[in-house]
Amino acid sequence: MENILYKQLLDNNKIWVQSKLDLDQNYFKKLANGQQPPVLWIGCADSRVPANEIIGAQPGEVFVHRNIANMVIHSDMNMLSVLDYAVNALKVKHVIVCGHYGCGGIAAAMGNQHIGIIDNWIRHIKDVYRFHQDELDAIIDEKDRFNRYVELNVVEQVFDLAKTSIVQNAWENKHELNIHGWVYGIDSGLIKDLNVNFKNNDELDEVYQLKF
Ligand code: CO
Repeated sequence: MENILYKQLLDNNKIWVQSKLDLDQNYFKKLANGQQPPVLWIGCADSRVPANEIIGAQPGEVFVHRNIANMVIHSDMNMLSVLDYAVNALKVKHVIVCGHYGCGGIAAAMGNQHIGIIDNWIRHIKDVYRFHQDELDAIIDEKDRFNRYVELNVVEQVFDLAKTSIVQNAWENKHELNIHGWVYGIDSGLIKDLNVNFKNNDELDEVYQLKF
């Protein structure tokens, strides 16, 4: 069965290529000329949250970074490299952190089960719980608490983006850069905008505001 699936993926690729060429013979030649996406997407690695598809974006329109629970961790060289390239080379106008309800990473952070190396990644999500412990502990219904935790995690990741030297430097240099927090509903397909929109570092605690 596994081998059939594997072969099917390659067959699907050929069908997809042909469908694009049927619409435009130069489709891939144009894409090969370069990219200038206006958006950086930081999303969860979850297979049910395909970045381009849920926002109707075509190849070339979104620069994408995904990890478990859409985290913005300030020592993550992968995330920092993607962010730096997107902001300073591609000059994206928007950075969107998109979490999703039912996130397995958040569920793991709510529990205490040891899983493995991933425990150390999940620990960053647990920090978000600690920051918002009063609000979260006050929510009796476990599903409601889970949903709110997903939202608060996205909000914290947006703040963590704003704390980076990369984003603050862009704002300092009058680069029009907007950062946003969204949550996707796997059971509805709809995105909720959490309206945490930053355009400058004024909303950060003073200790995080970099002077240039
Ligand atoms: Co997830």
